[in-house]
Amino acid sequence: MGRRNLWALIYVTVMMMLIEVESSLHRVGGGKYSWNSDVNFSDWSNHERFYSGDWLFFGFDRTRHSILQVNKSSYEQCIDTDFIFNVTRGGRDVFQLLEPKPYYFICGRGYCLKGMKVAVTVLPQPLPSTPITPVSTASTTLISSSAFTIATLSLAFNAFLL
Ligand SMILES: *[C@@H]1O[C@H](CO)[C@@H](O)[C@H](O)[C@H]1NC(C)=O
Ligand SMILES: *[C@@H]1O[C@H](CO)[C@@H](O)[C@H](O)[C@H]1NC(C)=O
Ligand SMILES: *[C@@H]1O[C@H](CO)[C@@H](O)[C@H](O)[C@H]1NC(C)=O
Repeated sequence: MGRRNLWALIYVTVMMMLIEVESSLHRVGGGKYSWNSDVNFSDWSNHERFYSGDWLFFGFDRTRHSILQVNKSSYEQCIDTDFIFNVTRGGRDVFQLLEPKPYYFICGRGYCLKGMKVAVTVLPQPLPSTPITPVSTASTTLISSSAFTIATLSLAFNAFLL
């Protein structure tokens, strides 16, 4: 193995370790299908730490529930018109928290008033990170964190070889 390859290998290994720390997947509500009206989401989010680049996972019954990203006032008043982004796809949906700022999500069709809303405050990434764009906003199922890691890794690797 050449010296260059060895350094590439070390670099990739270190990146892998950093990436493990860098992007977490948070299951909203704590369980597999926890986007429902039995969960206290402020209690849940108070016990989590969110960093930019992290992902939220929403598991839910899509025949009843939805997820809309809204602004602060719509969150407080449960207004589900004029939302920022409709996260709803197949019921196992992900959303990447790209920026260090507060994000607000509510469930449509009146469920917000029953407590189905969550606010998360995203902190800046403490480690240097490789910016990643979402794989596909149209994707219906969970983007597994390992697939994400591989994508990140190949980006990092390509950057190194340039
Ligand atoms: C949710 O939990 C918080 C404490 O984290 C508590 O203050 C609040 O009253 C709870 N809300 C409901 C609807 O039980
Ligand atoms: C929040 O969005 C609503 C529409 O849903 C809009 O009327 C309002 O002006 C927005 N508020 C802020 C602070 O951007
Ligand atoms: C959000 O998207 C889902 C799935 O595409 C759709 O069924 C639903 O009507 C949309 N909600 C709103 C409020 O547009």
